[in-house]
Amino acid sequence: MSVNMEPSEPSGQSFEDIALFARELVIDPRIPEICPGFDVPFYQAGLAGYSDGAMRLIARQHGCPFCVTEALLDRTLISGGKGRRKEDPDTLAEELASGDLEGNMAAGFDDHPIAGQVIGTSPSEMARGAEILTEMGYDAIDVNLACPVKKIRRRNRGGHFLTTPKEACEILSAVRDSVPNKIPTTVKMRRGWDDSKESEDNFYTIFDYAYEVGFAWATVHPRTVEQRYLGPSNWDFLKRLVVSRPDCLIFGSGDIWCAADIFRMMKNTGVSGVSVARGCIGNPWVFTQARALMDGNEPKNPTLSEQRSTLLAHIELCVRLHGEKKASRLMRKFGIQFSKFHTNPDETKKQFIQAESMQDWKGVIEKSYPIDS
Ligand SMILES: Cc1cc2nc3c(=O)[nH]c(=O)nc-3n(C[C@H](O)[C@H](O)[C@H](O)COP(=O)(O)O)c2cc1C
Repeated sequence: MSVNMEPSEPSGQSFEDIALFARELVIDPRIPEICPGFDVPFYQAGLAGYSDGAMRLIARQHGCPFCVTEALLDRTLISGGKGRRKEDPDTLAEELASGDLEGNMAAGFDDHPIAGQVIGTSPSEMARGAEILTEMGYDAIDVNLACPVKKIRRRNRGGHFLTTPKEACEILSAVRDSVPNKIPTTVKMRRGWDDSKESEDNFYTIFDYAYEVGFAWATVHPRTVEQRYLGPSNWDFLKRLVVSRPDCLIFGSGDIWCAADIFRMMKNTGVSGVSVARGCIGNPWVFTQARALMDGNEPKNPTLSEQRSTLLAHIELCVRLHGEKKASRLMRKFGIQFSKFHTNPDETKKQFIQAESMQDWKGVIEKSYPIDS
């Protein structure tokens, strides 16, 4: 399954206004208080099939302060990562939004602070999954009530809980109770199942309950579950939410394609922070550029030589994490996204698509990304 990377609306609005806003921005102090080290108001989202330890470490090297794993299925966690179906792991991860445990282990000491994201069906299994993530050393636990993947064997998961608020609340309680007080819990939500009033009411019931039982923040992706990733993310919904719940720490998600979009969302909606998702696939520079904007500097695009170093570092981490065979397959989809920054993007993209082995891959880098460029 390929991921749709087309921005659903142009990121208009004056760049100067956004740059000024970014320069004057002070992070909500609750964020670093809750999660030491989370020092700027943006983070790398969970992205099934992408945001493994390698992508996270590369993001951090480029200024990302906090990452969330892809959604990890409670039962996978409970069974120690075993018992997964034997299909292609990438497809499986994308389709089920249930990431591979090994690729999501916090990849060394540099991969902190990090939230482990749990997805599942029953409160008791979700709670046990959250407990396991805590034992594994994750700094926060994120509950996925957002994934739009269809019901699997009639089991509710992810965004489907927006149709059953009582069950969603039971999950939130069970997860909060299972995790030590010192570990923050957070929740990822869609704005509803669909555009109905009932759906919005369900959203608010679950959202309010999360804060009532001690969740530190919610990241709200204001597309509906039915909408999946199509059409614009409804930033007006976020704006209304922030106005109606002024005391809640809220992160926004959706349609963040470049560094300026992070601050555009904060300025337009009032959210305290932003999760960067498709916009950081093959683009870790979004974080460097966002920090540059906050420092009052001009965000720069990476030179070919900078792209080369980042690509080589990403490959090395990917091979270490997954072995050469899987890494060459995984890196293909990253290469396709990275190629956008090349001076000859179409040809470079073609070469990455054609690369079948790690040797091919490195050949593309040697040929198309000269050292002193
Ligand atoms: C391929 C793909 C995988 C995703 N996997 C996850 C996931 O595992 N956990 C999660 O919370 N969100 C996941 N998301 C949702 C994103 O975190 C984000 O909310 C969504 O893409 C909207 O942001 P964007 O429009 O800026 O991409 C995924 C999105 C995509 C496209």
